[in-house]
Amino acid sequence: MSIDTPPITPQQYEVLHGGGAEAAEIAKQRLSRRRFLRRSMLVVWGLSTTAAVAGSLAMLYPNLAGQFGSAITVGTKSQFPAAKPSDYKFNQAGVFYVQEAKTYLSHMAAGTPLLLSGSALSDQLTSELIVKDKDGSLWVAIYQRCVHLGCTFAFRDDCVSFKCPCHGSHYNVDGEYLDGPAPRSADRFALSFSGDSVVVDTGTLKNSVPHPDASTRIIPVPSVQCSA
Ligand code: FES
Repeated sequence: MSIDTPPITPQQYEVLHGGGAEAAEIAKQRLSRRRFLRRSMLVVWGLSTTAAVAGSLAMLYPNLAGQFGSAITVGTKSQFPAAKPSDYKFNQAGVFYVQEAKTYLSHMAAGTPLLLSGSALSDQLTSELIVKDKDGSLWVAIYQRCVHLGCTFAFRDDCVSFKCPCHGSHYNVDGEYLDGPAPRSADRFALSFSGDSVVVDTGTLKNSVPHPDASTRIIPVPSVQCSA
């Protein structure tokens, strides 16, 4: 119903209530009611528009503090003990699932064999959002979502690497691509420390790490094959 259309017209009112001078007076009153109604509707429209804009802004800039989409303190460093990649054990050593951040936290021990060194290594660590801690260990927060078609991949103790159950994309402990249909290495979130706490910024995703080659691969390919 338009704001110019009263619930019934004066003519309709006549038919319903008998017409005459009384009807003319009623029609006059209805005209002023229409003006009142129009103004009221404009006020309502204004309030609704304001509420809609506020709602849109809230959707665009939601208050996500501590929730997925924001920086999340996932625990203290001691909750995520480092290990060499060949010794990773899910949720016990080197690799830990952090549900609130939808992230696998990978913590490679100091002394982990690396394929790069010097500035080539530090540049590659930076470009893959891998953080070197002061004890020499390496941290990376790997987003759980497979970059092929979006399935959640799993860590496999049998082959100390991540493997996607959907079409077999396979990623190393640092998220680097190993094989399968994934078009790039696994995506990762920015990671930092606040004192002894580990912070994963799930609002900052690096989703552009290409397949590694001999000049960019950081961690050797695992020596064991996945059982299936
Ligand atoms: S969605 Fe993971 S391999 Fe296809």
